[in-house]
Amino acid sequence: MFKVSNETVEKHETEALIVGLFEKNKQDQLEYQSLNEAFQSELDTLVESGDISNAYGKVSKVHTFGKVPAKRIYFIGLGKEDDLTTNKTRNAFGKLFKKLSEDQISQACISLPSITHANSELEDVVEAISEAAAMATNVLSTYHTEQDDQPKVELEQLHFIGSDEDSLVSAASNGYALGNGANVARHLVNLPGNLLTAVDLAAFAEDMAEKHQFDIEIYEKEGIEELGMGALLSVNQGSLEPPRFIVMKFQGKAEWDNPVALVGKGITFDTGGYSLKPKDGIIGMKMDMGGAASVLGAMDAIGHIRPEENIIALIPATDNMISDRAYKPDDVIVTMSGKTVEVRNTDAEGRLALADAITYARQQGARKIVDVATLTGGVVVALGDQVTGAMTNNESWLGEIQAASEKVDELIWQLPYLDVYKKAVRNSHIADLNNSPGRKGHAVLAGSFVGAFAEDTPWVHLDIAGTAMAEAPHDLGPKGPTGVMARTLVKTMMNSSK
Ligand code: BES
Ligand code: MN
Ligand code: ZN
Repeated sequence: MFKVSNETVEKHETEALIVGLFEKNKQDQLEYQSLNEAFQSELDTLVESGDISNAYGKVSKVHTFGKVPAKRIYFIGLGKEDDLTTNKTRNAFGKLFKKLSEDQISQACISLPSITHANSELEDVVEAISEAAAMATNVLSTYHTEQDDQPKVELEQLHFIGSDEDSLVSAASNGYALGNGANVARHLVNLPGNLLTAVDLAAFAEDMAEKHQFDIEIYEKEGIEELGMGALLSVNQGSLEPPRFIVMKFQGKAEWDNPVALVGKGITFDTGGYSLKPKDGIIGMKMDMGGAASVLGAMDAIGHIRPEENIIALIPATDNMISDRAYKPDDVIVTMSGKTVEVRNTDAEGRLALADAITYARQQGARKIVDVATLTGGVVVALGDQVTGAMTNNESWLGEIQAASEKVDELIWQLPYLDVYKKAVRNSHIADLNNSPGRKGHAVLAGSFVGAFAEDTPWVHLDIAGTAMAEAPHDLGPKGPTGVMARTLVKTMMNSSK
């Protein structure tokens, strides 16, 4: 897929030559200059007429008619160099890759000197561009019975020219693995609840484990009973589909000890149960395994990148259904931790499934835990659909995740984890905890409920109910599942500290 070599723009043969243009003097842009020379200054004419633009995010295509060996040149406007960041470069290239895909281009070549800028390391820029190459033109599966008239042409080769540093080759392949990890998450979220049950999710994880040589253990219903996961079992109680508890391990250190636990909410469809969702609120609830999808997407990238970290991925998987045997409001259940819970709302099921998975993580000696979950409508009201809500009992662990999220441009904002909330989730006359003490502040109450099971293990909670789905196409992908937090998790693991 990737090549990096030290060649010059005016001599290189390719279907599509990509050249970055900054808003600065043309004299300073050597690649532009040497192309312009080969064009007997005709590029200048196009710049003057506005047919070639250096405005940020603008893509301008020029046919070369044999003036240089490249068939076409795509100029990508990068705006003012001082304003450019790695994140903005990723988005600009997202636009560019969409254009290449429209034009059915399968092979492209990027001039490195033309995109090098003061605010970023070139490795980071190459990684970000490769992420964009994987993500921007990702197509989600559909079930139309009539074929689309234009089959999609995939980008098969991306060549970076103007340097031959080895570090750029691994930056490119890491970026591509990160982007594909997000695509894996998107694919899973996109699958409807009838086509992705807990059993299907476990089978997907098994295939991935085989591909990457991960250790994997899938607990079936009996195994989950033996573990004593009363909370996960209660959520599953109304379903004809059996639950699964997925445990996947990647050993990145010489000894298997003190892993980091990545926990993903895996509710393959959330009806709300007896606390039934209204007919409009139930639509889209196939996305309720978005946390599990992010964790599996991250594990796919981790399998390629193989960071020096021990990682245990944990996914409690089931749907949340109604039947004569489903769990009910007022039920009292015993979680794996031994803590009892009064069920006040069967639609507050995610925190129950997460509770048992987090207890399992602690029993496995996890030294840090991060959970990812489409946990509450409250976080959507609070932060909208661009920002993931975070809670923690350990500021430095959140700091690590926050730093990683900034690298991949996934926004996170911390929500408070306060004693008043910790007390509120314990407000029950009949049990240790109450799974739904009220609507006021229910995003932070949900997080605080989960935190009660993390106890003193460093823990971060990421509520992606708002960010897991995009309402419209964006620079890095289509409308629909975003695969959010898959890349943040991977980056966190790549930089993980003791
Ligand atoms: N899966 C939902 C949260 C959700 C809402 C995800 C919208 C994506 C979009 C979760 O299980 C849920 O139902 N939460 C309830 C909690 C309430 C019962 C305290 C909610 O947010 O209303
Ligand atoms: Mn629910
Ligand atoms: Zn849910």
